[in-house]
Amino acid sequence: METRKTGYMIRRIIVSFIRKYRWTPSCVAAVFMVTFAVSSYRRDARPIVVLSGIAFAAACYVWGYSVRALKSATWPSLDHLHRRQYTETWDTLASSPSQARAAACGKSDEGQLRFSAQRPVTNVTELAGIKATDNVLEIGCGVARIGLELAPRCQQWTGADISKNMLACAADRLVGLNNVHLVHLTAANLDAFSANSFDLAYSTNMFDHLDQMDRYKYILDAFRVLRPAGRLYVDNTDLESDAGWAGFANGVATAQPYERSPFQPSPTTAAELTAYAKRAGFVEVRTHHRSPLVIVTAIKPSVDQSFDGNSKSAGA
Ligand SMILES: C[S@@+](CC[C@H](N)C(=O)[O-])C[C@H]1O[C@@H](n2cnc3c(N)ncnc32)[C@H](O)[C@@H]1O
Repeated sequence: METRKTGYMIRRIIVSFIRKYRWTPSCVAAVFMVTFAVSSYRRDARPIVVLSGIAFAAACYVWGYSVRALKSATWPSLDHLHRRQYTETWDTLASSPSQARAAACGKSDEGQLRFSAQRPVTNVTELAGIKATDNVLEIGCGVARIGLELAPRCQQWTGADISKNMLACAADRLVGLNNVHLVHLTAANLDAFSANSFDLAYSTNMFDHLDQMDRYKYILDAFRVLRPAGRLYVDNTDLESDAGWAGFANGVATAQPYERSPFQPSPTTAAELTAYAKRAGFVEVRTHHRSPLVIVTAIKPSVDQSFDGNSKSAGA
């Protein structure tokens, strides 16, 4: 176990060094190539020639490996950040428009990004509904992957996010739409919005990255900012689906010795999300299983409850 831990530590030190100084593998390979060539040319002692040949081959292997690995490892290591350091984490992940698109849904290409929006857009429209008169809020809107598709179908679309870099990319993508509004959240709550101001509040592909208590806090806040009869939609990877379980089990099998990244998706169950929605005061709380997601929809009662009264029952 100790040996494994030491090996892991050494590997991490080498990897972070190479990430910082990307030119090192090629330079080391060049140095060993010259050493090998010179020792062969001078007909040095056989062990020296063999050793320099092995060193050259190993350096070439590390060089090739690092070129491949660095292609996908475009983000710096975030392991030092805590899960709740949402702003630092997501601003780093979204440090350029193309990285922002990739961090939002794994696709940096604009065409693929738009294609990837189809499924969540269908989920929101089928399960929560979008009306032309709706004032809509997305919590954790990212680069407005969903907003770009939904804004033309509603009266006003507001995207709220904790990352300014994500919002900058969203603003570029939404140019030309005049019913959109982007809001930077300075903390994991909806304090930026007045009570009773939206007809639909939804969050997709975001709860996976939150601490449990922040999931509940957003549902509680969504209750406050929704109008009476306003609709809620939230989704999260479903631990009880085969696909959701497979992702989780794969993480257990492969990521055990590693630090957990602060954005590591964390699956949930229908029970967790419905408990939050009911405790927050929502009615008609329904779960929908669309693998790998569990989706909860709910309605704020038409007869308004005061936020104070609701928060008391929530904490009870
Ligand atoms: C995986 S992206 C999904 C973005 C968008 N919902 C989509 O499906 O394209 C997660 C988004 O949630 C945002 N986010 C993460 N933690 C947050 C928090 N505590 N409050 C608000 N937004 C948050 C990130 O900045 C990022 O834009």
